[in-house]
Amino acid sequence: MNILLVGSGGREHALAWKIAASPSVRRLVAAPGNPGMAAQCELRNVAATDVPGLLALAKEVAADLVVIGPESAVAAGLADALEAEGVRCFGPTAGAGQLESSKAFTKAFCDRHGLPTSAYAVCDSAEAARAALDGFRPPYVIKADGLAAGKGVVIAQARAEAEAAIDDAFGGRFGAAGARVVLEEFLEGEIGSLFALCDGRDSMIFGWAQDHKRAFDGEQGPNTGGMGTYSPAPVFTPELVEQVRTRLVEPAFAGIAADGFPYRGVLFVELMATKDGPKLVEFNVRFGDPECQVLMLRLESDIVPYLLACAEGRLAETPPPAWRDDSAVCVVMAADGYPEAPKSGGEIRGADADFGPLTSVFHAGTKKGDDGVLRAAGGRVLNVCARGPTLQAARDVAYAAVDAIDFPDGFCRRDIGWRALGPR
Ligand code: GLY
Repeated sequence: MNILLVGSGGREHALAWKIAASPSVRRLVAAPGNPGMAAQCELRNVAATDVPGLLALAKEVAADLVVIGPESAVAAGLADALEAEGVRCFGPTAGAGQLESSKAFTKAFCDRHGLPTSAYAVCDSAEAARAALDGFRPPYVIKADGLAAGKGVVIAQARAEAEAAIDDAFGGRFGAAGARVVLEEFLEGEIGSLFALCDGRDSMIFGWAQDHKRAFDGEQGPNTGGMGTYSPAPVFTPELVEQVRTRLVEPAFAGIAADGFPYRGVLFVELMATKDGPKLVEFNVRFGDPECQVLMLRLESDIVPYLLACAEGRLAETPPPAWRDDSAVCVVMAADGYPEAPKSGGEIRGADADFGPLTSVFHAGTKKGDDGVLRAAGGRVLNVCARGPTLQAARDVAYAAVDAIDFPDGFCRRDIGWRALGPR
């Protein structure tokens, strides 16, 4: 079959790597893709939000399936447009995508359908948000309502810092995404990322991982889109997975269908395991980045039947996937200055070396110029991933590859997996 994969980050490179390994795939095209993905895909320079361009490309390459990577393509209505033209698609409609594109929508959704989450206030002006801080205790959680590439969340210890974050959002730091702000109660517990597939009716748990959101070791520095992941994560006991399934996943899919938006694709449940059970932190309407990378390393089954089953409403007849017993680790190499002001253009050498069968280096924000030199072209630049029989073994292999890559203008965390292994 022919597959069109939409997106250009590390998540999409990991998906491309796994999809390309499927015996059912004849042609894999990525739009726009990245230099690393050229090893698995034909690259076509169509942006992930160019819905007419992607529709035309899907027809040109006779795509049997379009796989949507990023939330921006969901919010742009790509699945709606493909559905209208009868093209099979893995990824939800923009209506269902409101679960990520508006935090205020999601909070009201949780109230409406009885999903456990933190207390909150939705504020349409800086004055209202500053006043609403009175209803919360530090640390204050301030979120831009709309899509902000994982950077729209500030956790502030001091009230002055919280007020500055509110002013920043309403001052245009996140563009239209910050025209409304959601304040949230800070949840105590351990964070986790769980993934579930849905075909509009039936659903299936599809793995879990733990992300490291802060920029620097020891959970210091600003919030990022994610600096590294590992899977499996011990926080996901069988009991917690079952609670997440019954309290968050199934009510979410039933609720969004009842609201008129049956969900087709993957739902990423970011949750806090609290002493009162799991509570929703956020929904995302796509695979996590860099959670997807470790899931793809651990997924033993061919992924394509699962993507197709979601698009065709056949999940109920699809057996659960097989996962390797191995652990997997992903270390994000980011450009200096990330997340605020990543330095662009830094040279990278050695990323395409052969690190052996247990290691994969996915490109996240790279470009290759006419001189053939690979350079940084984004905040998160490379995802160095490895698997091994234990988490420690996987981490050692991943950091050995990190240390062999020459990226003087970049940095990474050295403590990925610390909650399971202890600080380094
Ligand atoms: N790693 C978190 C996210 O994908 O939003």
